[in-house]
Amino acid sequence: MNQHFSTLTLDHAGLGLPPGRYALPSEAAARFHAQTAGLDPEPFAAHLLEHYTGKRPVTELTEAERRFLRGELQEQVDEWRQAALDYFDAHVPLRFAKAAPDAVARNWAGRVAAAPHDTRSLLLAGPVGVGKTHYAFSALRAVAETGSTVRWQAYTAANLYAALRPRDDRRADADYESIAHAPLLFLDDLGAAKHTEWAEEVTYRLVNDRYERCLPTIFTTNVVPGQLGAAVGDRVASRIAEMCERVTLKGADRRKKVAA
Ligand SMILES: Nc1ncnc2c1ncn2[C@@H]1O[C@H](COP(=O)(O)OP(=O)(O)O)[C@@H](O)[C@H]1O
Ligand SMILES: [Mg+2]
Repeated sequence: MNQHFSTLTLDHAGLGLPPGRYALPSEAAARFHAQTAGLDPEPFAAHLLEHYTGKRPVTELTEAERRFLRGELQEQVDEWRQAALDYFDAHVPLRFAKAAPDAVARNWAGRVAAAPHDTRSLLLAGPVGVGKTHYAFSALRAVAETGSTVRWQAYTAANLYAALRPRDDRRADADYESIAHAPLLFLDDLGAAKHTEWAEEVTYRLVNDRYERCLPTIFTTNVVPGQLGAAVGDRVASRIAEMCERVTLKGADRRKKVAA
């Protein structure tokens, strides 16, 4: 049986593990492990409990204690990673299933996994066909590879507006909230759909809700810098500018290369 402690007291960095809600090995499990390893179970278990409660830093655990703890927690990371990759494979559109992250995407993903509310969102900008959607899914894969338990949803702006069309049913608010409050959202092709007052209002509500809650979002757009306000409204553009790191993708239209 594992006990659940607040993981705030666990020194993830010291143990070389990503932050997460770990089930920490119980006192009984620690004693049992020490016994089978031929170690004195009393200090072994006591040191671990002291570590869980913040009274003993990683540096004051013995090598055997550290190894036991890291091993138990690593098993959980491996399970989370597998579950996250399964989720990715089940939800990624086939065309982008093999998208592989670069160093920038991995770096961003690592920060999202470690501190989703303290990591700036991502704005991927560039002309049509340059690889924005591909890049966004590669970043979502990179998040999964960290073993993060944060799950994503993806919508093109056009599909988002279709999903949130005004309608007279009681699920409309719940549908909106499940998207607006998704722990990680990918909103593709912002500013590409026809600009209407209604679309601007929905976009504003959604972006503002995520802005206020510090929820990480990946946006892509082919609107050139300086024109986003005209395309999606100044209130949206100003929040996106503040909440995002901008990655500009350059190059030729990859779709034309295929056609040529
Ligand atoms: N880094 C890449 N490696 C291989 N294929 C890519 C890469 N980036 C994009 N592609 C492919 O190029 C095409 C256009 O990419 P896409 O992401 O849809 O462009 P955009 O969203 O910018 O219009 C897609 O078929 C995509 O799979
Ligand atoms: Mg695209």
